[in-house]
Amino acid sequence: MFNLENLVRPNIKSLVPYSTARDEFKGSARIFMDANENALGSPSTQWYNRYPDPHHTRIKQKISAIKNVPASNIFIGNGSDEVIDLLYRVFCEPGKDEVVIFPPTYGMYEVSARVNDVHVIKVPLMADFQLDLRRLEQAITRITKMMWICSPNNPTGNTIDRVDIEMLLNNFDGIVVMDEAYINFSRQRSFLSELSEYPNLVIMQTLSKAWGLAGIRLGMAFASQPIIEYLNKTKPPYNISQPVQDIALKALEEVGQVNEMIVELVKYRMELEQSLLALSCVEHVYPSDANFLLVKCRQAHQLYVHLVDNGIVVRDRSKVILCNDCLRITVGTQNENQALISAMNTFQSQ
Ligand SMILES: Cc1ncc(COP(=O)(O)O)c(C=O)c1O
Repeated sequence: MFNLENLVRPNIKSLVPYSTARDEFKGSARIFMDANENALGSPSTQWYNRYPDPHHTRIKQKISAIKNVPASNIFIGNGSDEVIDLLYRVFCEPGKDEVVIFPPTYGMYEVSARVNDVHVIKVPLMADFQLDLRRLEQAITRITKMMWICSPNNPTGNTIDRVDIEMLLNNFDGIVVMDEAYINFSRQRSFLSELSEYPNLVIMQTLSKAWGLAGIRLGMAFASQPIIEYLNKTKPPYNISQPVQDIALKALEEVGQVNEMIVELVKYRMELEQSLLALSCVEHVYPSDANFLLVKCRQAHQLYVHLVDNGIVVRDRSKVILCNDCLRITVGTQNENQALISAMNTFQSQ
């Protein structure tokens, strides 16, 4: 039986969170002399002398309206990477608990586990890049606290079968984290609408991909209210800076433009896929639900070096499990995609 209180670390359960000046006085006032800010402001700009909203209230209201999820089920982090770290801090006892990852997948689940001294069990995906449920069943133990499902998965680009994920949500008594960083590029729908059905589900999304804002570092987690409260009380009080909050609020007004951009990038992805398939150095292009393509090449590493020599950087994944001879190529602008294809063409003729 899933029981959240049995999963949360005792030190986090008993933690009294830091109380900010804005927690202790809410509302409007004429003069604020309570937070040791610099009343004169910086010489270069007077705008950022006050601490930002630690609760990200307006951002959550906007995201709530866009995603149709109550604000109390939303957490905002300094990129998904902060959310990943916080999930370890809330749920995993260092040196004791363990988590499951499904390689090949996003590298930070493992790096963050190691930072937090959490043991990682690896259950590789099958050859079709889907979950190996039989091996998973054998791998899970009493101290398995979380599993990390990336869908669409980085670097393979595919969406994980919904039925398999539902099976895990219904049967695993720990936390199932669904990383939906690339969901806006996918034909499959998000698990957001199922949030209220599964108390063990945490969904991560980000402004770094479809929203085009990797530079500002803004990640989101969606989960039950008690899980969100644990994340809130564990995070640093001012984890989202004022400039980032300002930019995010502006960007979140532009849903229509973002949707147009997604359609455009998906079109470029399909065009790029066709162009790549016509090259003799390309053996296979894996189907993608993301903004990148995993491409099996002849002489992948030499091709990678050739592209770098031509000023084009892709990701060499040829040493990664199940990705032998593969390059991961992020979809670029039409010009960038054309430049890539031209450079790959000259590799063919070498
Ligand atoms: C699957 C996945 N999740 C999360 C991230 C990072 O997200 P953020 O920029 O919000 O930290 C990436 C970045 O490449 C990713 O591939």
